Amino acid sequence: MRVEIKTQPSMLNSRSSEDGADTRTSSYRFPPGLKYNLPFYAFRKFRPADPIGLFEYLAEKYGDIVHYKIGRQHIVFLNDPAYMREVLVVQNDNFTKERTVRRTKLLLGEGMITAEGASHRAQRQVAQPAFHRQRIGGYAETMVEEALRLQTPWQDGQRLDISQQMMHLTLRIVARTLFNTELGPEVKDLAEAINRIMGLYNYLVALPAVETLIHLRVPGLARFTKAKHTVDAIVYRMIEEHRRAGSDNGDLLDMMLRASDGSARSGNVANDTDCLRDQVITIFLAGYETVANALTWTWYLLSQNPAAEQKMFREIQNVLGTRPPTADDVPSLRYVEMAFAESMRLYPPAWAMGRQARGDFELGAYRFPAGTTVLASQYVTQRDPRRFRDPLRFDPERFAPAGRATFPKFSYFPFGAGFRQCIGESFAWMEGVLVLATIAKKWRFHLAAGQRIEPQALITLRPKYGMAMTLEKR
Ligand code: HEM
Repeated sequence: MRVEIKTQPSMLNSRSSEDGADTRTSSYRFPPGLKYNLPFYAFRKFRPADPIGLFEYLAEKYGDIVHYKIGRQHIVFLNDPAYMREVLVVQNDNFTKERTVRRTKLLLGEGMITAEGASHRAQRQVAQPAFHRQRIGGYAETMVEEALRLQTPWQDGQRLDISQQMMHLTLRIVARTLFNTELGPEVKDLAEAINRIMGLYNYLVALPAVETLIHLRVPGLARFTKAKHTVDAIVYRMIEEHRRAGSDNGDLLDMMLRASDGSARSGNVANDTDCLRDQVITIFLAGYETVANALTWTWYLLSQNPAAEQKMFREIQNVLGTRPPTADDVPSLRYVEMAFAESMRLYPPAWAMGRQARGDFELGAYRFPAGTTVLASQYVTQRDPRRFRDPLRFDPERFAPAGRATFPKFSYFPFGAGFRQCIGESFAWMEGVLVLATIAKKWRFHLAAGQRIEPQALITLRPKYGMAMTLEKR
């Protein structure tokens, strides 16, 4: 059944007393948006599992800044680079991630992505040296080695789920580069456990009191607990092995251990281990899921755009000849980088971001109360036809220097912005370029017959039905 949603006129003085949440409603001025509470539409128009569909609808119907409510909660959805800059940079002191990451904490605990204030600052400071540009150059060899190792069993004409292959590859790369840990067969257990958790993610976000339901081992959610135990066991083992070895290789886990011993936060090893677990699992998850999805979508887009694919092959041949790439080749692999950038425009692994206001705030002509949730979606904004001509076309040339100048900052933001911008951005660019070049030197992928393509917005943007592809040896 189609529901007619009326555009709401600007709502000066319009917050009703039944909202309860705002006491000084008369001073607020909300932009146009959904007239009724979101759950009303969610049941009748939008599937709760399709948040991107909702954001696309809001941007198309209401434009750059949209207001709606879920229960008593005010939400403002932004689709304008200038407003995003205000929230993420100019007024960032007034915004926290607290509410928007509450459910993500079920998996990540209090790691860098979910922590706030002093804890976030301390974690970021400890990890920073591992993400320094110079240090990242040192990871290049491992990235290429792992990309070569992945191909060893591949056969011409073989059909493989490239999404799964990329997940295993990037897991091994994060484990070796940042945690000096060789993942053996457990790479499969880890990827499968995280897959199971992702499969439950929409329930974890949508169910009220889900923490209690998990604790009560409600059927269905018991799968979450089991998968989390698998992940935790692998992470605890890594921590234990590093502690036992006692040596300091200078990897990220060593830095985290040193900082944790130094601060002697609790004087309680078990508690410190739990804090470390959160920090390690956060880097693991942030560092592999995102890159694996970006690579998977890039292979898909290249398979659908043979002209761009050929151009990339030619560049790789010209730059590398017969040898595998090194860190020094990355600046010359320009077109590879442009293809990776364009893929993250169309299929951004981090497809949305959220913040919550500590105090009242203004954006343009509008004024919002403390507690308002602010949302922005890379997926929606990066497909905006006002900023990207023919936005659904895969065109790496947009990211040539002349093309880049045509779209404003914050209209392309796959790594976020401001002081919580992705710490792993340089790592991801290097890994993306090196993996693409190492594999494309030898292989071409064709989308398998019958493979359905649909993005699924979980913590990251995954291909809902996987990515079966047929391998062609070049
Ligand atoms: C294509 C790959 C990647 C994408 C698209 C991506 C995207 C993002 C985005 C959008 C944020 C900001 C979230 C927000 O402000 O709400 C973020 C934060 C973060 N990312 Fe990435 N990321 C990628 C790769 C990586 C890698 C390789 C690592 C580590 C190895 C990493 C670790 C982190 C961490 C720890 C944060 C939290 C930073 C903070 O809050 O201070 N990411 N990432």
